[in-house]
Amino acid sequence: MSISSSIPSSIPFLDLVTPHIELEQQLTGVFHRALHTAGFIGGPMVEEFEEAFAAFCDASHSIAVSSGTDALRFAIMTCGVNAGDVVITVPHTFIATTEAISQAGAVPEFVDIDERTYNMSIEKLQQYLEEQCIRDRSGKLISHRSGRPVSAIVPVHLYGQMADMDAILRLAEEYGLTVIEDACQAHGAEYFSERFGRWMKAGSMGRAAAFSFYPGKNLGACGEAGAVTTNDAEIANKIKMLRDHGQAKKYHHDVEGYNGRLDAIQAGLLHAKLSHLAKWNMQRRERAAEYSCLLANNESLTLPYEPSWSRAVYHLYVIRTNERDGMMSHLKEAGIGTGIHYPIPLHMQRAYVSLNYGLEDFPVATKVSREIVSLPMFPQLTSHQQARVADEICAFTSQAMRKRISGEEDVLVSAVQSA
Ligand SMILES: Cc1ncc(COP(=O)(O)O)c(C=O)c1O
Repeated sequence: MSISSSIPSSIPFLDLVTPHIELEQQLTGVFHRALHTAGFIGGPMVEEFEEAFAAFCDASHSIAVSSGTDALRFAIMTCGVNAGDVVITVPHTFIATTEAISQAGAVPEFVDIDERTYNMSIEKLQQYLEEQCIRDRSGKLISHRSGRPVSAIVPVHLYGQMADMDAILRLAEEYGLTVIEDACQAHGAEYFSERFGRWMKAGSMGRAAAFSFYPGKNLGACGEAGAVTTNDAEIANKIKMLRDHGQAKKYHHDVEGYNGRLDAIQAGLLHAKLSHLAKWNMQRRERAAEYSCLLANNESLTLPYEPSWSRAVYHLYVIRTNERDGMMSHLKEAGIGTGIHYPIPLHMQRAYVSLNYGLEDFPVATKVSREIVSLPMFPQLTSHQQARVADEICAFTSQAMRKRISGEEDVLVSAVQSA
């Protein structure tokens, strides 16, 4: 055996090159179309993608914008949230969720996550609404904490799994709140709704939903991109104006808006990739099932939990361990890429000191943030690579267990000797 063939090749956390090489011809065709028509902003490539993405999400409208953050901000701004209102979300998410809330003029308040799904805890949401809010004379819900009106909930479909939307929608109706989905990690994820009696797609259940097409997402652009989906034509029209300087007709500005449009080239690239998304999501589900099988007997790990009402699309495959740092270093030395999504919950970020939360206000988010590790996950990951990841994890956990046991034995021996 040659030296090079005895060194195991490294396994990236994410392989973004392979799918682009596989689709090279289709993708370069998009550039040619744009170059030959000079259609760079708006036009048929954007409209065709919007139509196809709305159909993929089972939503009536999709409005392409320049990022997931803009998508969420525009959705919040057009769904009846007023300046100074409270929007309820979770602390275990990417900061863009709360940036969008603040940029829309509202204030985020958190409820903790569920320890198994890592999404918004229904019990904690109910507790917040019952115990941390009052109704004023007009019946409006007011937050005790800030004295501000509460107007919306932003559940985040984290890691590609939808939050428990029936329960969230039921509470939202009871308390007169709007639900806006942060579906930035959940393109194609599904939820079995008892309420509607069928499987529903991410982006089709809230008043509006935001998607990110950041390159590493399940559907990623070759740059920045995002979209809002909604079944409400009025919201769709308002977002079309907001993304384009507040104009529905050139130089007729009904409101001040933003430069939040999606480039036609990005729309064309996304449209080309969209036809592969269902297959890629299926491959991610197969890869996830394989990891869960390979790691099932390792008692030092907590594996992802998929309730019977969920079909997750595994944007990330996240496990938990008490020995996170050691495991990540071990995998790094073995040439295996990992990540942490996310190491500091938002209530503990310096950017949110002014919200005055303490570490223990959201114990589940705090605990989870210290234990999570994201393993390599992408559609082209091979069984062989996964077996190596699992072998290295198991080698590390057995080694760690042996060290723990011998440490405990040493303590016992010295206790016996000193007795
Ligand atoms: C949960 C969540 N919300 C919002 C965003 C923002 O999307 P973008 O980076 O496209 O602005 C992201 C992207 O990483 C995300 O993961």
